[in-house]
Amino acid sequence: MGLLKFELLKTVGQARRGRMHLPHGVVETPTFMPVGTNANVKLVTPHILKENDVQIILSNAFHLYLKPGLDVIRDFGGLHNFMNWDRPILTDSGGFQVFSLKKGQKITDDGVWIMSPLDGSKHFITPELSMEIQATLGSDIVMAFDYCADPKDGYEESKKSVKLTTKWAKRSLEHLRRISHQALFGIIQGAIYEDLREQSLSDITQYDFDGFAIGGLSVGEPREVTMKIVEFTAPKMPYDKPRYFMGGGSPDLLVDLVANGVDIFDSVFPTRVARHGLAVTWNGKFNIRSARYKYDKTPIDENCTCYTCRNFSKGYLRHLFDREEVLGQILLTIHDVHFMMEFGKKMRESIENGTFEVFRERVKKAYEKKDN
Ligand code: GUN
Ligand code: ZN
Repeated sequence: MGLLKFELLKTVGQARRGRMHLPHGVVETPTFMPVGTNANVKLVTPHILKENDVQIILSNAFHLYLKPGLDVIRDFGGLHNFMNWDRPILTDSGGFQVFSLKKGQKITDDGVWIMSPLDGSKHFITPELSMEIQATLGSDIVMAFDYCADPKDGYEESKKSVKLTTKWAKRSLEHLRRISHQALFGIIQGAIYEDLREQSLSDITQYDFDGFAIGGLSVGEPREVTMKIVEFTAPKMPYDKPRYFMGGGSPDLLVDLVANGVDIFDSVFPTRVARHGLAVTWNGKFNIRSARYKYDKTPIDENCTCYTCRNFSKGYLRHLFDREEVLGQILLTIHDVHFMMEFGKKMRESIENGTFEVFRERVKKAYEKKDN
C-alpha cells in the first residue's frame, strides 16, 4: 500500500545508496531535505531550489493548518499547486510542535491541545486530524502523528511518549488508509533510553508503514548521546524501507547518520545559518560578516558552481550583511543550499565507489574546527 517504491542500489558497511520513487518524482538517497515550513523555503524560489538540484522539501502540517488554513489549500488544489513546487514534498505531522510549543499545551490519550503561536487560539490535534491535514496538503510522504517528549522531562515522560506514539501510529495508519493513497512513515520515539527505543522500534515496525523515522533526537542532548541512540536504533530499522532521521543537518552529523544506515534527513540548518551570515563549505563554516573580508574579491569557495560564487565576492557579501540588506541573506542561502545538495551528491558518489569512510573522515576533520 502507499505510493512509494524504495530501491537499495548499494551498501557499504551500514551506509546505503538508494532511490525512492514518489508521485512527484524520484529521490536519490542519501538525501537532505530543506525546510519549507510556511509553504516556502525561506528566501529562495522553487526555481532556485530546482537549479540547485533540491529533490524534495519538508513542510509542516500544523503551521499550514493555522495559516493559510485547509480551506485555502484545498481551494488551490493542494500544497504543490499553492506554492508552485512540482517535486516531492514530505510533511511533518505536528507531533514535533508538541515539543516546541509547550505553552498552553495539554496532552490526552486522544490527542494534544496546542496553542497557536500566531493568535493564542487553542487547537486539539488528533492523529485523525493530522492525517486529514496532510491528505489535503497532498504531500508525497505523510508522517504519523507522534509525541516527541523533552528528554529533560525524564524517563517516565519519555515512556509515556513511546506509549502514545504507538497508539497514535496505529490510528494514523488506519485513518490515512481510509482517506488517501499517500505514503506514510512511522516515527520511533524513546528519547535517550535504549530500552524505550527498543520498545518503540518493535511497536512501530509491526505496522505496514512505507518508511520509518527516528524522532526525539537533536533536541538539546549532547552529540555523543544522539549518536549512541542512532547506532542502537538505525541498524535495527527495516532494511528494505527508507530510514529518516528527523531534524539533522550539520554535515559532520550527516556523515555519521549515513554511516549508521540513515537515508534521509531534514533541517533548517543551511537556510537558518545563511540568514545569520554563516557560509558552509568543505573547510567548515565561517562568518561572512567578519571585517577580514572587507577587501576580499574572491568568492566564498573558488570551486563552488553556485550562482553566488560564480558572481559575487566575499567583500560584496560582507557589505550586504553589514548594511543588513536582504540580498546578502538571499545570496548566502543560495550558496548554503547548493552546498548541502553537493554534499548529498558526494555522499552518494562515495558510497557508490566505496570511498565513503574516507569522505566521512575528511568532513569530520573540517567540522571539528571551531566556527570563525
Ligand atoms: N522533527 C524533529 N524531531 C521530530 C519528532 O520527534 N517528531 C516529529 N513529528 N517531527 C520531528
Ligand atoms: Zn557557492
